[in-house]
Amino acid sequence: MYSSPQPSAAPTASPDEFRAALSQLASGVTLVTAHDPEDGEDVGMTATSFLSVSLEPPLVLISVREDSRMDELLARTDTWAVSLLAEQQRTLASRFAMKGRLSDRLLFADTPHHRGPHSGAPLIDGALATVECRTEQRIPAGDHTLVLGRVLEATVPDPSGRPLLYFRSAYRQLG
Ligand SMILES: Cc1cc2nc3c(=O)[nH]c(=O)nc-3n(C[C@H](O)[C@H](O)[C@H](O)COP(=O)(O)O)c2cc1C
Repeated sequence: MYSSPQPSAAPTASPDEFRAALSQLASGVTLVTAHDPEDGEDVGMTATSFLSVSLEPPLVLISVREDSRMDELLARTDTWAVSLLAEQQRTLASRFAMKGRLSDRLLFADTPHHRGPHSGAPLIDGALATVECRTEQRIPAGDHTLVLGRVLEATVPDPSGRPLLYFRSAYRQLG
């Protein structure tokens, strides 16, 4: 009788395999932002893990690295925002992605923005779209936290703008 081959130990892709495969997915680039009510500072994080989840109610999902400043802040405050970046905002994206050496305060001082009326979070001027959210659920997932947010307000300040993309480990624009 035929018996299908049994998998040996549960297979797990190596980090290199995983990165190489997932780098083939082209994504839009966002800036996730939040305001810290305790020290009055704004925090921003470049993120490609942003997903539209549900229309009614309107829900989105972000994935935030555990122990990052943003993860720590979103454990304490439940409102945040996402700005969908335009192709001319590449420098902004790369600066907010390597903050080890740069403070959020200096980065925001250099980044034109206004405050979201519902979230208190910075909304980036010149973004293609912005969404303000309130956390519905936090789900631990490996070395990240999935944060499911209800969309409080969504705007499209620049309907004819062009998106910033990330593909094969580099920022790109539509051809
Ligand atoms: C293109 C790109 C996409 C990124 N996407 C995410 C993401 O979805 N989630 C995340 O936690 N970090 C993401 N990062 C990394 C964060 O931007 C970076 O680790 C963070 O801003 C550093 O903040 P910290 O020094 O305060 O921890 C991304 C980086 C780049 C360059």
